[in-house]
Amino acid sequence: MFRLQAAACQRLGSTMYAELLAGLADDLEAGGPTSVVLRGHEDDPGPSGLALRLAGSLHRLTLAGKAPELAGLYPTTGGTWDSHGVEEVVGFLSRRADEVRPLLDRAPQTNEVGRAAALVGGLLALSERWRLPVRLFEIGASAGLNLQADRFRFTHESGTGWGDPAAPVALLGAWRGAVPPVDAGLEVVERGGSDLHPLDVTTEDGRLTLTSYVWPDMTARHARLAGAIGLARERPVPVEAADAASYVDRLTVVPGTLTVLWHSVMWQYVPREQRARVGTRLAALGAQARGDAPLAHLAAEPTRRTPEAPHEFWVCAETWPPGSEREFLATMAPHGIPVSWE
Ligand SMILES: C[S@@+](CC[C@H](N)C(=O)[O-])C[C@H]1O[C@@H](n2cnc3c(N)ncnc32)[C@H](O)[C@@H]1O
Repeated sequence: MFRLQAAACQRLGSTMYAELLAGLADDLEAGGPTSVVLRGHEDDPGPSGLALRLAGSLHRLTLAGKAPELAGLYPTTGGTWDSHGVEEVVGFLSRRADEVRPLLDRAPQTNEVGRAAALVGGLLALSERWRLPVRLFEIGASAGLNLQADRFRFTHESGTGWGDPAAPVALLGAWRGAVPPVDAGLEVVERGGSDLHPLDVTTEDGRLTLTSYVWPDMTARHARLAGAIGLARERPVPVEAADAASYVDRLTVVPGTLTVLWHSVMWQYVPREQRARVGTRLAALGAQARGDAPLAHLAAEPTRRTPEAPHEFWVCAETWPPGSEREFLATMAPHGIPVSWE
């Protein structure tokens, strides 16, 4: 599992974690300190992401200033990774196993600000169609960072942009292909979100949690995250603790507004029964929707064309009236950027 994760980190752009996790795999096989720290976790299921839990635990201690001997290796604390760092980390694990072990029980949680490029492009397309103020709701919102995406800046590779040019979150060159309708007059008048385990980034614990699970050498992701946390601290968007189905059950449509339910990379975690409830509720709400009170379901989620095919990330929308047809808008990279519009 560590070796598979190392290869995945390499593919997604983290040389540091590719080298670190491969080095920790060697140490595990040799029965070194890594195997002592992970004792009892040998049979943890693959999707629980043990390698990323261990890497996130080490990153958290470093970010919190509790591992000064590792700070020089982590770009997030001003350091520079070097492949000899594996020895330093293994040495740290041999000395500080008792501090690392309790952190392994935390589930990795992220809130990927880059995915706002997909969500906002879709929202612009919906806004252009309906030309109404938007009520925006999100399920699986994590810390709710993308619920403030209308305060970010986005640009197409051609240079066309949308949003405040001075915004602290700038997703430059994020859009490819067709240019989203930047003159749609998008205005968000109400916003809210929910998550099974919401994170509060106005607290240091919430900030550390989100930051520690972003791979340390992915500096652009860290810059986006820090910008979005700064915005959230200025004007927090509350995220309720609720599962997807209970939250959608409470949504309404309101005349004179476009109601949007959006989500990104969370649907795979929603149990089948809850997914069915979300579908039933959206169909019922859709039946109440009118031209002056429309409803849209905008999703940026992984999918497979056939059961054997690799995952692709599609941005799709369904709108009511009339509903019943899912419209394909774009594909995005796993962390959002780039987004290629149809
Ligand atoms: C991979 S994260 C994605 C977070 C965010 N949507 C993003 O794109 O950055 C998945 C999120 O879904 C949440 N989640 C998992 N199952 C859920 C459920 N049944 N209802 C609501 N949220 C759920 C998790 O707590 C987590 O915050």
